[in-house]
Formats: sequence, structure tokens, C-alpha cells
Amino acid sequence: MEVGFCFWAVVLTVITVVNACPPSDRAALLSIKAALHEPHLGIFNSWTGPDCCHGWYGVSCDPYIHRVADINLRGESEDPIFQRAHRVGYMTGSISPAICKLDRLSSLTIADWKGISGEIPKCITSLPFLRTLDLIGNRFTGRIPGDINRLKELTVLNLADNMLTGSIPPSIVKLTRLMHLDLRNNRLSGELPSEMGKLKMMSRALLSGNRLGGPVPVSLSNIYRLSDLDLSLNLLSGQIPDMFDKMPVLASLNLDGNMISGQIPRSLLNSGVSICNLSRNALEGRIPDVFGSKSYFTVLDLSHNRFSGPIPKSISLAAYIGHLDLSHNNLCGPIPGGAPYDHLEASSFVYNTCLCGKPLSKRC
Ligand SMILES: *[C@@H]1O[C@H](CO)[C@@H](O)[C@H](O)[C@H]1NC(C)=O
Repeated sequence: MEVGFCFWAVVLTVITVVNACPPSDRAALLSIKAALHEPHLGIFNSWTGPDCCHGWYGVSCDPYIHRVADINLRGESEDPIFQRAHRVGYMTGSISPAICKLDRLSSLTIADWKGISGEIPKCITSLPFLRTLDLIGNRFTGRIPGDINRLKELTVLNLADNMLTGSIPPSIVKLTRLMHLDLRNNRLSGELPSEMGKLKMMSRALLSGNRLGGPVPVSLSNIYRLSDLDLSLNLLSGQIPDMFDKMPVLASLNLDGNMISGQIPRSLLNSGVSICNLSRNALEGRIPDVFGSKSYFTVLDLSHNRFSGPIPKSISLAAYIGHLDLSHNNLCGPIPGGAPYDHLEASSFVYNTCLCGKPLSKRC
């Protein structure tokens, strides 16, 4: 009996030790815990005991090598811990550089805690297996590490809704696996890297709400997979490149709230783009008369620019136009009748030089 018991005790111990996280990973996690303060939910209460691979909230390990692979801490979540507390998360403190000792980390999400501050540890770029870096919705300051290109496996970079400053590091264009780039609502300045088009795998590039200047890089037209480009609410200038016939899956284009000038490229109005907001820029000239059966817009907002001339006749050939806004321009002449217009209200056309006809009260 006793021999048998000892045997199984030894086997169990061996299994537990082999499957347990190594002491160095555990120590790194405890340093991370010590630098953060989460007063309401107690999410770190489970970060205790020897085996960080089992039962530590938000921590997962690689099942083969038993190293920490995944940290997933979201301040807005359906998890019972939040439902019991009837509140969203709030956390202060900073991310300890000890995180860089977790050199098998493949996914790091510390998102929507609203109060985490300090800099993103510079050493984070030394994590060779990192695929996801998601720190949205905190108060991080400082710069995006200049050697971000060292994260060769990175597919998701989401640092939106923080207070990051400095420019977008030019080395970012070497992240050849990057699919999702979200840097919205920070304080980033400088120009967009002109070689951004090297990010061949990118499908979403969301950079709105910063202080980015310079032109819209022409090289973006090389990104065959780009479906969502949002550069709105920045300080961009120059012209919109005539690049849309090379971008087969681009569906959403937001350039509103910049200082972009020149004309609308013809390729844009007859492309696959269905959400297009160019409002509040300095665009001028005529709206190209090139709408056709490929033109399908759920949103086409050209308001608050300097467009002149008539509303193009071909607009009645568009397959669909849901929300159209041409207000606050210098347009003149009759508003065409027909299907795309029947549902539009006067507000789509007001504040122009001399538009007339329905739905405006001014007769032609
Ligand atoms: C287009 O952008 C402007 C300026 O940012 C914004 O006010 C407007 O609501 C947007 N239009 C649509 C239809 O979302």
C-alpha cells in the first residue's frame, strides 16, 4: 500500500513540476502584478501559488513547453468576474519591464483599463514570438519603440486610445506580417512613413485622431489586401493619390478632418469603396462625372470642402447611395432627380453657391 502511495505521489509531483511554469516566468508575472493596481475586481487574487500555468486569471501557457504564451487582461469583458462586480475594469500602475523576461510570449493584451500609465517598456521589442500587442484604452505615454521592426512575428499592433507621442517609427514598414494596425486617438506627430506600402499583409490601418502631417503615402496602393483605411482627424495635406483602381478590397476610406487639397481622383468614385468620408478638407474643382454601376456608397460625405460646378449627372447611374452629404461647398445648378435622391433631405445640399430643385426649396 505505502509503496504504491509513494509511487503515485512521486508521479503526480513529477507531472505537476513538469507542467508547472518555470520559476522565472512566475517571478516575472509577480513583478507585473506588483506594478499594477486593480482595486475593484480582484483579478490578480488568482495570481498566487507555484503554478502560474493553471488558474492564474488571464494567463495561458504553451501546452508543450509550459512557458507563458498568452496574457489576456481586458477591462471590458463578459467574464463572470465583471458581471458579479457590476462594473467595467479600472486599473492604474504601469507595465513592468519584467514582462520582457517572458520570452515565449506570443500574445499580450492589457486593454481598456483606462488608468494604466507610463511608457510601453522599450525591451518589449526583444520578445521574438510576439504576434499580438494590444494595449488599447489606457494612458500610456512616450513613444512607440523605434526598433518595433524586431517583432518579426507581429500581426496585430493595437495601441489606440492612449497618449503616445513622437512619430510612427519608420522601421514599422518592415513588419511584413502585420495585418491590423490601430494607433487611433493618440498624440502621434510627424509624417506617415512613405514606405508604408511595404506592409503587404495589412488589411486595416486606423490612424485617426492624431497630429500626423505630410501627404497620404502613394505607396499605400501597393497593399492589395487593405480594406479599411482611416486617416481622419489629422493634419494631412497634399492630394489624394489616384490609386483606387489598384486596391480591389478597399471598402472604407476616411480622410475627413485634414487639410487635403486638390481634386477627387476619378478612380475613387467608381471603385469598391462603399464608405467614403472626405468631409472637412480643402478639396476643390468639380466632382468627377464618373459614377457608374460599380459606385455603391453607403456613405459618401463630401461636405465642408470647396467643390464647385454642378452635381455630376452620372450620379444617377450609381448602384446605390445611402447617405450623401454635399453641403458646405460651392456647387451650383439643378439637383438631379431619380432613385439615389428620393430619400435625401435638404441638409445634404444646403450651404452651396446656387444649387436648386428638390429637396431644396429654391426652384431652378
Ligand atoms: C464625416 O466626417 C466628419 C468630420 O470628421 C464628421 O463630422 C461626419 O459625421 C462624418 N460623416 C459621416 C456620415 O459619418
